[in-house]
Amino acid sequence: MTAETKLGWVEEAWSKALEKTQKNSRRIGAGFPHASQGGQYELAQPYWWTAGFWPGQLWLLYNESKDESLRALAEDCEEQLDQVLNDYVRLDHDLGFMWTLTSVASYKLLASEVSKVRALKAANFLAARFNLKGSYIRAWNPWYEGEDNRGYAIIDCAMNMPLLFWAAETSGDPRYRHIAEAHMDTVVKHFIRPDGSVYHIVRFDPETGEFLEGIGGQGYAAESAWSRGTAWAIYGLTLAYHHTGKAEYLHTAQKVAHFFLARLPEDHVPHWDFRAPGEERGFRDSSAGACAASGLLLLADKVGETEAPVYREPAIRMLESLYRNYGTWDNDAEEGMILHGTSNYPAGTNIDVPLIYGDFFYVEGLARLKGNGPFYWE
Ligand code: GLY
Repeated sequence: MTAETKLGWVEEAWSKALEKTQKNSRRIGAGFPHASQGGQYELAQPYWWTAGFWPGQLWLLYNESKDESLRALAEDCEEQLDQVLNDYVRLDHDLGFMWTLTSVASYKLLASEVSKVRALKAANFLAARFNLKGSYIRAWNPWYEGEDNRGYAIIDCAMNMPLLFWAAETSGDPRYRHIAEAHMDTVVKHFIRPDGSVYHIVRFDPETGEFLEGIGGQGYAAESAWSRGTAWAIYGLTLAYHHTGKAEYLHTAQKVAHFFLARLPEDHVPHWDFRAPGEERGFRDSSAGACAASGLLLLADKVGETEAPVYREPAIRMLESLYRNYGTWDNDAEEGMILHGTSNYPAGTNIDVPLIYGDFFYVEGLARLKGNGPFYWE
């Protein structure tokens, strides 16, 4: 494939994503879509971890199109998140996903001071979840009365650390970076197995910091390999390297990337868990493919010229397959852009449906191919 033909499909894919997002925005407005069921995105509450992806997608597309209606909706979503910050009790480690893609995006694109303060507040709540014993950011508060999850940390949180790196760079206060690095060191030490596969949840003793166990979480089993968790690790470790220059993060990102890439099926889009047995593996998770692709494009930029194609070429193949084989461009009855995402197979929720984070990372991957930064995690 020549550079010209690559550019050709990317421009076409970008136009279709813009058109579909503009059409969706007329129904979704400043809502918080999560998964598409029966052709329509179901709207979640603003405190749900996915609240940043729709505004994040609007910002990505606004950045090139300058369609002011997209910007207005992204700003409206960001304002609605104030109630979540103020309520406090619903906050968890996903402050990173939520405020990086709203307030940090708005600050980076428009230098909004109000957005900067919002993102700094969110960073403070996130930093406060750090447990000195065990060196981890606590994932969640109890989901039900009496649940003790004080010792839980999850791989998804690697993607929340960019909010702390941003806060350190923006405020000049290194405490945020120290906390983010300490958490990422824990990721390297306790989440990544020697073969490059990844635990979803690790449980520590919250009083002593002792590693207690790895837990399957949204993966098939404790020792399986949940593909979206693997993608979170590739991208999160690459971003940690981007912000710190620490070689261990880069090498670990490469190790996890090799595990991921070696297990892709013929159409380059991963199954939901690389180690689910037989029929249980059936479903794809296109969101894992989209997230990994965007992360791999950044990883390619971080390694030397000789190694870059090892990550860049499969990332392009994944994005092109999502465009050609998973896209809904000719289907007006489906709001989701990318089919066949799997949110939580063990819980039986949102299996084989479009997911807003699949759409977001697909658009972000295209933006990377077009060189359309800034990217909010960086
Ligand atoms: N827990 C976030 C995710 O589903 O990836």
